[in-house]
Amino acid sequence: MKSFLDHLECTSCRGTFNAEFPHQTCPDCDKVLYPKYDIENARTAFRKESLNTRPHSMWRYREMLPVRNDENIVTLGEGMTPMLKTNQLATFMGSNNLYIKDEGVNPSASFKSRGMSAAVSRAKELGFTKLSVPTAGNAGGALAIYAAAANMEAHIFMPVDAQASNLKESAISGAHLTLVDGLIGDAGKISREMAAKHGLFDLSTLKEPYRVEGKKTMGYEIAEQFGWQVPDAIVYPTGGGTGIVGIWKAFEELETLGWINAKRPRMFCVQAENCAPLVKAFHEGSKTASPWNDAKTMASGLRVPSAIADYLIIDILRESHGGAVTVSDEEMLAGMKTVASLEGVFMCPEGAATAVAAQKLLSDGTLSDQDSVILLNTGSGLKYLDLLEQSPI
Ligand SMILES: Cc1ncc(COP(=O)(O)O)c(C=O)c1O
Ligand SMILES: [Zn+2]
Repeated sequence: MKSFLDHLECTSCRGTFNAEFPHQTCPDCDKVLYPKYDIENARTAFRKESLNTRPHSMWRYREMLPVRNDENIVTLGEGMTPMLKTNQLATFMGSNNLYIKDEGVNPSASFKSRGMSAAVSRAKELGFTKLSVPTAGNAGGALAIYAAAANMEAHIFMPVDAQASNLKESAISGAHLTLVDGLIGDAGKISREMAAKHGLFDLSTLKEPYRVEGKKTMGYEIAEQFGWQVPDAIVYPTGGGTGIVGIWKAFEELETLGWINAKRPRMFCVQAENCAPLVKAFHEGSKTASPWNDAKTMASGLRVPSAIADYLIIDILRESHGGAVTVSDEEMLAGMKTVASLEGVFMCPEGAATAVAAQKLLSDGTLSDQDSVILLNTGSGLKYLDLLEQSPI
């Protein structure tokens, strides 16, 4: 099996670049680069029937992932997570068609494993041995385990108040951990400085072209799990937005492959009430988002004051006739309890935010009880036990 990776293309100026060179953002305009595939040729070589005998992981979509040589794939079994049709939760929320895609069962207990499996594999293939990443928390834990599995060095820059689970996971996997008195943006500055100084390859999300390729496999799986159709709506907890843009990219690729039709789900972005730059920009009708001052939320994955892919995310929300919703920390905590007690899924606060948001969208009539709706639970609540100690429920 081979990868049909062809080149990198800038999502803004459309410049094209050689994928065998380790690019980060666009050399011409500093915007996000996307890997592009030779889908014309992939159409004949890669058929959906071939998936029947493939591994039950995100690497089942091997041809549309960016690693040339199988030997470079660093995998811990990430992906192909359950698509759960909800029962009591659906009734409670007034829906007949409500699903949870449960990313909490991934290695490292979050969807960040997908991006790191792809990025670490490709970095290995391009000859790097030392990696760095700024993180709100979960991406750091994920890089630590993939770097360990690949026998590579990981340098992780994480806010000092990130969940203990990620600090411990990084430490036990032998990563070099720097705790930063600030947010992910501050960690990013230090991470890139250290990368330049010490020859590390920086894997800041969407400032490196391959993490999004791992995340896009959520879109491939959603289509496969729905019998090569897409649902009516996807509700996604958005920080940097790699997941939402990745899922959208997947649907475009799948349509070009001829595996799905032109229908797209309505995409809904959920952010925290006190860190909602994308929701604000969407409702103001802007094309880009201004950085959020004084970002505060217990959902570390949503504590992202500014996203490099703002222009892509906002475009997707508009093009898909979706929307953008905020949820407070109190609502997230209550949502965690509702989902766990009614459905048996112990969601992370980011995932619970999608349940609360969907309830708002169902009760104000934006979504109907017949719409098929997916809540993206991006991680396990088990990664957030310290938070529950602070706010017992
Ligand atoms: C659990 C969780 N959910 C959601 C997000 C936001 O992800 P994205 O960058 O895809 O918007 C993060 C990012 O840190 C996260 O850890
Ligand atoms: Zn460009």
